[in-house]
Amino acid sequence: MRERRSTTIRSLRRLRRPGWLLVPALGLALVWPALAGDEDMPLIGDLTNGTRLYRTHCSVCHGFDGSGAGPTAVGLPVKPADHRDGSLMNARDNRILFETIRGGCSKCSKAMPAFGSLDDLETWDLVAYLRSLHMPLTFFFPGVDQYLVKSYPLGQVGNKEFKTGQLERLRKHAGKVAGKDLSPTVFTLFKAGERRVSPELVPQEPRRLAELRKENKIGYVLFLELIGPRNKRVPVGLALDLDYQITKLLTTASDPAVAGEYDKRLEKYIGLGKRGDPPKFDISRDKIGKLFDKAATRVYCLAVEGANAYELEERERSWADGTF
Ligand code: HEC
Repeated sequence: MRERRSTTIRSLRRLRRPGWLLVPALGLALVWPALAGDEDMPLIGDLTNGTRLYRTHCSVCHGFDGSGAGPTAVGLPVKPADHRDGSLMNARDNRILFETIRGGCSKCSKAMPAFGSLDDLETWDLVAYLRSLHMPLTFFFPGVDQYLVKSYPLGQVGNKEFKTGQLERLRKHAGKVAGKDLSPTVFTLFKAGERRVSPELVPQEPRRLAELRKENKIGYVLFLELIGPRNKRVPVGLALDLDYQITKLLTTASDPAVAGEYDKRLEKYIGLGKRGDPPKFDISRDKIGKLFDKAATRVYCLAVEGANAYELEERERSWADGTF
C-alpha cells in the first residue's frame, strides 16, 4: 500500500502539479484496492521520463521513432521490434512489456537485452512510452479489461462447410486474398466484473479461457492492411462491435500526410456493416471513392471472417464446459 501511494505521489510530482493535488491523489490510493491485481502497477507511467529513458537505452536499436531502424539495427541477426505496430505490441500487455524490459524477452532472440538495472518506476515509465507509440486497445474500446489475441488461417478452421463458406464469402466480397492477409490476428475484448488497472492479456490456456464470460465480450479489434489507390498498402486499425458494425476505422501510419487523407475517406465507413448482411460498401460516386469502397469492404470482410473464426472456437469451447 505504501509503495502504491508513493507511486501516485511521485507521478504527480513529476508532472509538476501543485501540492493541493496530492489530496485527490491520496483519495485515488484509497480506491485503488477496488481494482483487481497489479498492486505495483501505477495508474500512469511518466511519459516524459519514459521518452528520455527510451532515447538513452532503446533508440540505438529501436530507432528514435520506434520503427526498429536504429543505427545498430543493421548489425543484428534479427530486426528489432517495430514499436509502432499495434498488432505486435497489443499482443503483449503491460505486465508482459514490464517483464520483457527488466528480464529480457524469453521468446526473443538474444539480440534483445535485459535491462535489470532499471528500477520499477523507470520500467513503468518506459511501458507508458511504448504504449504511446502505437494505437492501444483502450483507444478502440476504453472499457476493455481483458482480451484474447490469436491469428486464424481463414478457410482452414472449422468443418468443411465452415471452411467453404468463409472462402466463398471472401472470394465474392474481398477479391483475391493471399499471404499474411489470409491469417488475420483477432483481438477479442472483454470487460470484467472487477476493473483492471490496464487490460490483461488472457493466455490461451483452457482454464483461463473458461473463466471468460461471453456476456462480457465488448468487441473485436484488428490491425490490417488497406489496399488503397495505386495498390498502396496502408496499415489500418478496425474495431467491430458485437453486431459486426464498424465502430472505428483509421490508419495507423505514422506519416501524417497519408493518415490525414486516408482517415477523411475511412471515416465514412464507421457505422456501416451488420452481422448477416453481405459486406458491400457502395457509398461513393467518384473514382477514388469507389476504390476506397472496395478497399474498405475488403478489410471489413477479413475482419468479419476473423471474428467468425473466433466465435466458432468460442462456441466449441463453451459446449465443452457447458456455459453456452
Ligand atoms: C541491442 C539492441 C536492442 C536494444 C538496446 C533494445 N532492444 Fe528491444 N529488441 C531488440 C531486438 C533485436 C528485438 C526483436 C527480438 C526478436 O524478435 O527475437 C527486440 C524486441 C523488443 C520488444 C518485443 C518483444 C516481444 O515480446 O516480441 C520489446 C517490447 C522491446 N524490444 C523493448 C525494448 C526496450 C523498451 C528497450 C530499451 C529499454 C529495448 N528494447 C532495447 C533489440 C534491442
